[in-house]
Amino acid sequence: DVETYRDQYRPQIHFSPAAHWINDPNGMVYFNHTYHLFFQYYPDATVWGPMHWGHATSTDLVHWKELPIALYPDSLGYIFSGSAVVDSNNTSGLGKKGKIPLVAIFTHHNPNGEKAGTNNYQNQSLAYSLDNGITWTKYAGNPVLNNPGIKDFRDPKVMWYARQKKWIMTLATKDRITFYSSPNLKKWKKESEFGATIGAHGGVWECPDLFPLKLNGKTHWVLIVNINPGGPNGGSATQYFTGDFNGSKFTPRDTKTRWLDYGPDEYAGITWGNTGSRKIFLGWMSNWEYANQVPTEKWRNAMTIPRELSLKAVNNEVLLASAPAKELNALTAKTLVLKPTVKAGQDILANLNKQYKQYRFDAKLRNKPGFRIKLSNDEGETMVIGYDNKTGNYYIDRSASGKTDFNPNFAKTAYAPRLAFPKTSDIHLIIDASSIEFFADGGLTTMTAVCFPHKPYTHLYIEILKVSDIVQPSVSGLVSIHGNK
Ligand code: FRU
Repeated sequence: DVETYRDQYRPQIHFSPAAHWINDPNGMVYFNHTYHLFFQYYPDATVWGPMHWGHATSTDLVHWKELPIALYPDSLGYIFSGSAVVDSNNTSGLGKKGKIPLVAIFTHHNPNGEKAGTNNYQNQSLAYSLDNGITWTKYAGNPVLNNPGIKDFRDPKVMWYARQKKWIMTLATKDRITFYSSPNLKKWKKESEFGATIGAHGGVWECPDLFPLKLNGKTHWVLIVNINPGGPNGGSATQYFTGDFNGSKFTPRDTKTRWLDYGPDEYAGITWGNTGSRKIFLGWMSNWEYANQVPTEKWRNAMTIPRELSLKAVNNEVLLASAPAKELNALTAKTLVLKPTVKAGQDILANLNKQYKQYRFDAKLRNKPGFRIKLSNDEGETMVIGYDNKTGNYYIDRSASGKTDFNPNFAKTAYAPRLAFPKTSDIHLIIDASSIEFFADGGLTTMTAVCFPHKPYTHLYIEILKVSDIVQPSVSGLVSIHGNK
């Protein structure tokens, strides 16, 4: 109901739980016209605790309905992150009476084993649903993949590799990825290991994803690897590699470390399964540096907006780009196309802020100008998003954004490189009650940051080096997914 979602900082255009703690998105799969979003959930507090899989569904990727908890901890441990697949051919034999099973592949984390100092307390297990993901039965033969003794062994992301008619599991194993294959989701065989000499290694690798995407008719493979800590702006973040996968081994095109989102607050992001050639990504909108401390009361942490991924060729590199999923357009209630003569002192929300509380800003920029976009409230608190054309960096400065003192790292400015320099480039900003998401240069540079102003931001100013550099600026009021005004 509407009242549940009225508290201060409550996202109005993002998924957040009605109450209590969430972290990673899990088991994202599209099935029977429904997008499933499971998530790491602790139903007894607003801090991390024994993990469950919470559950929400959507038919449009924008409006979410929270459902009863899907998976509870059991004698094998807490239910850590993982994925879900539609087992159309019933390879697992878990389907019954002609019903196609949804199969979840997740990590069982045994806290007793951890306390006892063993090194095999994380193992992979299965659960299945025959009623569209509403109720789940754990597989009697769990776990299906045992830890060889390396502690961090988790977050299985499973996909069907049609060419060789087998399942591929991409698993985070310490700071490597290990690929496994299986004919039936129950028996797994190690295929290869990736990551010894490539990527960021400032922390443990977590929540990977592997999928193909086309660029100019040619298939490339994308390997997403979340890492905590060791992100480009501290704490947790999402790195990616592009290359080739042959059913056994991932071969990167080059050895550069790249980040899907350079901001401080997108983590554990992966994509929905079973969406055909579209790849839709969603991340947890927080950072392990302070996720347990952000100043909300009934609930803690939310998800990013869904983002459509694509590949772009820049020079000789194949890069991953993110864009707000087009489904988000359904929330646009009113768009004001601004004159390109927007001046530094002009509040571009002036004609929207009586009616709307969530916004998006879109513009094209010519000649790579430096700019500052300043979001502010009546207390003088500001969120600043900018581009420094001398250093070639985008940045988000939230040092004066409101509440920042709950963690010493929160107020730090985040930086991101500009990766492409077309003559005219685009920027997009999605602004909710306690977050901003920034997309630049066709989404090659993306930054997500949460913020906790004492009063909602109701003003937006653009400071740009030359007015003639901004083309087609527009600002839109967005309606709340909860029906709030
Ligand atoms: C990532 C993570 C995963 C793990 C889960 C536990 O944020 O640490 O590796 O499965 O969270 O909640």
